[in-house]
Amino acid sequence: MTEKLPCHVAIIMDGNGRWAKGRKLPRIAGHRAGVETVRKVVRACGAKGIKVLTLFAFSSENWRRPKREVSLLMELFIRALQQEVKSLNKNNVRLRMIGDLSALPEKLQKLILKAQELTRNNTGLTLVIAANYGGRWDITQAARQIAQQVAAGELQPETIREETVQQFISISDLPEPDLFIRTGGEQRISNYLLWQLAYTELYFTETLWPDFDDTDFEVALASFAGRQRRFGRTGEQVENA
Ligand code: IPE
Ligand code: IPE
Ligand code: MG
Repeated sequence: MTEKLPCHVAIIMDGNGRWAKGRKLPRIAGHRAGVETVRKVVRACGAKGIKVLTLFAFSSENWRRPKREVSLLMELFIRALQQEVKSLNKNNVRLRMIGDLSALPEKLQKLILKAQELTRNNTGLTLVIAANYGGRWDITQAARQIAQQVAAGELQPETIREETVQQFISISDLPEPDLFIRTGGEQRISNYLLWQLAYTELYFTETLWPDFDDTDFEVALASFAGRQRRFGRTGEQVENA
């Protein structure tokens, strides 16, 4: 058991393609294997009492991939939702989706709405899936909503503060991510939760997402537990608080 547990873990699940390539399999086989890891990590978070898990499933840039991979990924999302929602609900998981969902296949949109509705009152883990999500999109959609309020005369520009913007940013009703994990070896944010990650502890591992297991997760949590979060203060201030 680690002593300091993050309340919110945000993950970039990367390395599916390379995992498949290493086995001479098509990339989609890596994505399929990745779904298995999602199951395991969701279970681990529930068991540990982590409150929020946010997973990057598809970025606003992933449309640039070969058409065939994109459509196979969409099919995989649909199938995964159809298969998993019942058991997520049984396990008291609340499902939330963030991103520009309007660009997703209609069938997927319907399943998402249904799954959110079914699980909305669950009190266990909140599982946030980012699909067609981009951090810049998120900030832009917040700016658009603020501009609409200003245009309607409901908001004065002089009164706009960080909290005003925050209100319109995705999942701002949830605690901010404490721990960010990126598997697959790349050390970048790739347009994930730009606003929300302002003070998140970053953790990178070479492990490819389909290989990421409970032990890897423990190592990430232990790294988090060993860090001093200062939020701009001095180390002494934090120690004496
Ligand atoms: C992450 O794995 C999954 C998605 C982006 C959907 P990748 O498909 O990016 O795997 P690599 O980076 O090519 O290995
Ligand atoms: C980030 O992974 C997006 C997801 C995991 C969904 P990518 O594999 O798309 O990121 P880049 O392109 O290597 O930065
Ligand atoms: Mg990748």
